[in-house]
Amino acid sequence: MNADTPTASDERPAQVPTQAYGVGDTSFRAAGGVSGLRRLVEDFYQLMDTLPEAATIRAMHPDDITEAADKLHRFLCGWLGGPRLYREKYGAIHIPAAHAHLDIGAAERDAWLHCMAAALARQDYSQDFRDYLLRELFRPAEGCRRAARRARALDSDAS
Ligand code: HEM
Repeated sequence: MNADTPTASDERPAQVPTQAYGVGDTSFRAAGGVSGLRRLVEDFYQLMDTLPEAATIRAMHPDDITEAADKLHRFLCGWLGGPRLYREKYGAIHIPAAHAHLDIGAAERDAWLHCMAAALARQDYSQDFRDYLLRELFRPAEGCRRAARRARALDSDAS
């Protein structure tokens, strides 16, 4: 193999043309693989701990964020086309359903995305990839908001 050929184990962020993100494991590699995504998730939760606009969503999590960070990290590896580490350890997951019990409205969704945008800004990623990832993450984040809203509507029907 040519020394320049990227591999799935290549942990340095890969520079990929925008249209190729989402194909195979290109996004996973652009995110720096397992270790790059670990740094992203560490920064994400560190920012959630400190940004005032994230206080409400931080309070939804347990004090010890270790397991939540492990879960998000493993999920993102598979979601971006890398190894399915979440499934390996915790089984199948449907992101909106996993959040339906939480009180997530537009403000909470946007606070989550704000932490992610700030964490992305700290990574050694191309601006193209940061923009792409944030756009893609809007979908599951909005799915969480809708699932939470539906669950609350059902709750109020029952009372
Ligand atoms: C929309 C705003 C969001 C809020 C407020 C939020 C908040 C939370 C909270 C409070 C937990 C539970 C932590 C615990 O009890 O250990 C959690 C779990 C989790 N979140 Fe989110 N989250 C949001 C969006 C997302 C998105 C967009 C993703 C994926 C791209 C994601 C991935 C996960 C995963 C994988 C778990 C673990 C679920 C499980 O194993 O049951 N979250 N989230």
